[in-house]
Amino acid sequence: MSFYAAEQAPGRLNRSELAVPGSQPDMFEKAAKSDVDVIFLDLEDAVAPDEKEQARKNIIKALNEVDWGKKSMSVRINGLDTHYMYRDVVDVVEQAGERLDLIMVPKVGTASDVYAVDMMVTQIEDAKSYKKRIGFEHIIETALGMQNVSEIAAASKRNESLHFGVADYAASTRARTTIIGGVNKDYAVLTDPDENGQRENHWGDMWHYALARMVVAARANGLRPIDGPFGDFKDPDGYKAAAYRAAVLGCEGKWAIHPSQIALANEVMSPSDAEITKAQRILEAMKQAEADGKGAVSLDGRLIDYASIRQAEVLVEKAQQIAGG
Ligand code: GLV
Ligand code: MG
Repeated sequence: MSFYAAEQAPGRLNRSELAVPGSQPDMFEKAAKSDVDVIFLDLEDAVAPDEKEQARKNIIKALNEVDWGKKSMSVRINGLDTHYMYRDVVDVVEQAGERLDLIMVPKVGTASDVYAVDMMVTQIEDAKSYKKRIGFEHIIETALGMQNVSEIAAASKRNESLHFGVADYAASTRARTTIIGGVNKDYAVLTDPDENGQRENHWGDMWHYALARMVVAARANGLRPIDGPFGDFKDPDGYKAAAYRAAVLGCEGKWAIHPSQIALANEVMSPSDAEITKAQRILEAMKQAEADGKGAVSLDGRLIDYASIRQAEVLVEKAQQIAGG
């Protein structure tokens, strides 16, 4: 281990994160009763310019009046390049800051963007004598944001999570696709011909590099990496496949842009019983190995060592967090 120890973000459950447009208050009660871990009430891209002001009012009222239970509540403010953003922060934090857990910053591009929001939120919290500090979730969804992802991740003590905003990221990098998340048949390789001259088209994951890069920056700074939206809500299998590949890379949650995706995210992002049992067996086997003076042993025909303890502990801790949540 390095002598440097990254501070870890608060252990907030974030398997699923539901997007709810601030301009549609009729959706708030249903969201509040759902099984989602985090809700973000949106002031940004799901809200038309003419509706921004009313959406802000809806959100303030709902944060104060709706019973959101134990859910973590977030508000996605508008980007720092718009004139909506300062009022989003001032009005929402001043008038509903006590029920707000997180602010989601879209299209964050540099560490200075984070600094600017931090400065505003700090002033409001101090002026209002709030006891709780609001955390930040940043959407990495531009080429600039991805280039500066490490500096962004380290830019504030309020930072809790990085989110991969695949739709805007595609637009910003001018990727040749119009789907939100998911795969693209043109991101593929053609195998060499077999003995019959047949060739196969192997589809790849065009988001792999971006997601993996964001995961590393998040984890190196003690933050949660969260995978963003999957637009085709009529394709639960496609959603689950996308969520599994994000989980395997280290993401601990995924957005739900439709209520039907909440259960899918919670299922995929919770370790299965089989995984937990295997992790517990690894820990037991390593305890026995240590008692026998060994650093590595074999379990089910595979080598396990001290690194296996750390891998297993991640799963067991996650299971305990879910059970306690
Ligand atoms: C989310 O904001 C996205 O652009 O995918
Ligand atoms: Mg976006």
